[in-house]
Amino acid sequence: MNTQAWVKHAIREINADFQRSAETHMVRVPLPMLSQICLYFKDESTHPSGSLKHRLARSLFLYGLCNGWIGPESTIVEASSGSTAVSEAYFARLLGLPFVAVMPQSTSREKIKLIEFYGGKCHFVSDASQIRAASQELAQQNRGHFMDQFTYAERATDWRGNNNIAESLFRQLELEPHCHPAWVVVGAGTGGTSATLGRYIRYYGRDTQLCVVDPDHSVFFDFYRTGQPPHSLGNGSRIEGIGRPSSSRRSCPKSSTPCCKSRIPGASPACCSSNNGWGDASGRPLAPTLSGPCR
Ligand SMILES: Cc1ncc(COP(=O)(O)O)c(C=O)c1O
Repeated sequence: MNTQAWVKHAIREINADFQRSAETHMVRVPLPMLSQICLYFKDESTHPSGSLKHRLARSLFLYGLCNGWIGPESTIVEASSGSTAVSEAYFARLLGLPFVAVMPQSTSREKIKLIEFYGGKCHFVSDASQIRAASQELAQQNRGHFMDQFTYAERATDWRGNNNIAESLFRQLELEPHCHPAWVVVGAGTGGTSATLGRYIRYYGRDTQLCVVDPDHSVFFDFYRTGQPPHSLGNGSRIEGIGRPSSSRRSCPKSSTPCCKSRIPGASPACCSSNNGWGDASGRPLAPTLSGPCR
């Protein structure tokens, strides 16, 4: 198969995977003490590779394929110790491509096992600040492709629709008693999800407001408040996938979202040591403060 035919086949494989997959659930959460508030969770854990990063990985692969960056001989490299690596390993296996996740030595055994389960390899670096450089180098050595989620997440996603998370969320609420949510609450890692939601809300002129919650030791909140290019905080948020200790202006969600950013002080190891449960830990306490009139 020549490269052109392979790329066509690869895109079809990804689209077929999408076609076979079901929508993630929108769960109504009863709040007996706050009966005037309607709270819903979008359960992104039911994607085939287990998290909302399945959406991102699909978009990054399609972006790389359509840009001519990924071909039949490409080794896919990503700087990730978390769910993005798991989802990218899933898609790399779907296309029969080797996948390498570059991660700190401290990465949990559980995540390593999941990446390996999908046929991916893990490349460990001792200094976490070297992950990006190591990824670039590895991709170059293997004539591969560095996916670079932090640079490309916000632009690889089709923010106007195409069943992205925003379109799916609003469609699922259509038959609810209050079908126009006053607020959508989301965390930010790459900022891709919040950027997609914010752009979608603006584009369709929705009255919904977007609240991006940011854990301690992350630069997003400060950037939102001051508008200054974020400084580096040194240590990370300790919640995998959420928050950034340093960032470029380009990848900050504020650049593209109408959002109220909110810091959840101490919302970290005690209540959610991983990103699982982060939505719950941030959404529930925020519900009373964010409740606007239910429309
Ligand atoms: C629970 C949860 N919400 C939101 C996000 C934000 O994802 P991103 O900003 O990378 O799109 C993540 C990332 O891992 C997450 O785990």
